[in-house]
Amino acid sequence: MDFNFTEDQKMLRKMLRDIAEKELKERAKEIDKSHRFPRENVELMAAAGLMGITVDPKYGGGGMDYICYSIAMEELSKACASTGTIMSAHLSLCAMPIQDWGNEEQKERLLKPLAAGSKLGAFALSEPSNGSDAAAMNTTATEDGDNYILNGSKAWITNGAEADVYLILAQTNKELKHKGVTAFLVEKGAEGFSFGKPEDKLGIRASSTTQLHFDNCKVPKANVLSKVGDGFKIAMQTLDGGRIGMASQAIGIAQAAFEDSIKYANVREAFGQKILDFQAIQFKLADMATDIDAARYLTYAAALAHDNGEPFSRKAAQAKLFASEMAMKHTIQAIQIHGGYGYTTEYNVERYMRDAKITEIYEGTSEIQRIVIAKALEKEYL
Ligand code: CAA
Repeated sequence: MDFNFTEDQKMLRKMLRDIAEKELKERAKEIDKSHRFPRENVELMAAAGLMGITVDPKYGGGGMDYICYSIAMEELSKACASTGTIMSAHLSLCAMPIQDWGNEEQKERLLKPLAAGSKLGAFALSEPSNGSDAAAMNTTATEDGDNYILNGSKAWITNGAEADVYLILAQTNKELKHKGVTAFLVEKGAEGFSFGKPEDKLGIRASSTTQLHFDNCKVPKANVLSKVGDGFKIAMQTLDGGRIGMASQAIGIAQAAFEDSIKYANVREAFGQKILDFQAIQFKLADMATDIDAARYLTYAAALAHDNGEPFSRKAAQAKLFASEMAMKHTIQAIQIHGGYGYTTEYNVERYMRDAKITEIYEGTSEIQRIVIAKALEKEYL
């Protein structure tokens, strides 16, 4: 598919594909099986400049646009979805909001090491008893001299036990509901800040997912991101950007499933011929390729709107909704094409299906994407 990519964007894809094929793909199966957090992949991405690919060069980033981010997420996730997840939570959910909302001191102190990949970032909005209803959070932050004291728990946090810098959303005034939410930057090692056990997940098993616990955790006022009460807006805008990455991740997983399927169908024989010669298989592959391209168009449209400074919330939600449901549908078809072999860990397609499922859930479920889209449509058309 030609989307009028620039030479730089084409070179980026080629470089990433090489790295992903040589370094990430083989390791993906092992780390999925062992649940091992791939620190070496983080170092590799840092060395390639990926951990700060969209960050302003002033803070040591690559200064690239969201089309590039989308390309990066697709290629990484095609080889290893866990690695894509680690990078996206770090970059789009932690580094980028610090760039967009942080003050100079915070950017010097925290954004620079995040962009370099010497520190890893995380984002914490969801809680054990509220995920989709983000404003209903129970974590509190109480003013105490030059500090805020955080109490509560966050759940399903990507890079949970592995990060160094955490963007935490907490209620500074619960009566104000979403207008009482404030964003805090909390560093690993802060007193009263601990992690729960790693979640034993269906997919993206090499990424770390834990709860975070705050027990009278003291956070300096200097670590408030933007202003008190800006937290909900920061979270929503951050997720808008993150959803472009999630759509790209789903596309990468689906593309991997497609490529494995067409190759398998070309060598597997049944009833005296390659299964690729049966229309039943051809139709599945045709549908896969068509839907993958459609998802790419939606995703690049959202990325382009982001890069042009246009409203992109609805476009990002549409891209994530379509791409994630597409990836789920077609990874199941990829298993069907592989038959019994596809149901075993000898082939990668069962992992693709397990990894695809999370894209319908995190950074807003498919149901939440439909709510975001419907709300935007009402504003646009009524
Ligand atoms: N950008 C900026 N502001 C926004 C916004 C956006 N995209 N969306 C909403 N807002 C603002 C609204 O304008 C409104 O502001 P005012 O009161 O000033 O007018 C305010 O936010 C409240 O808006 P709503 O009334 O629409 O809010 P709501 O409580 O009904 O919730 C929601 C809206 C879209 C359902 C939201 O709760 C939501 O996105 N939920 C899903 C949360 C989510 O995606 N969680 C994923 C967790 S992160 C993760 O998964 C990462 C990981 O590590 C795994």
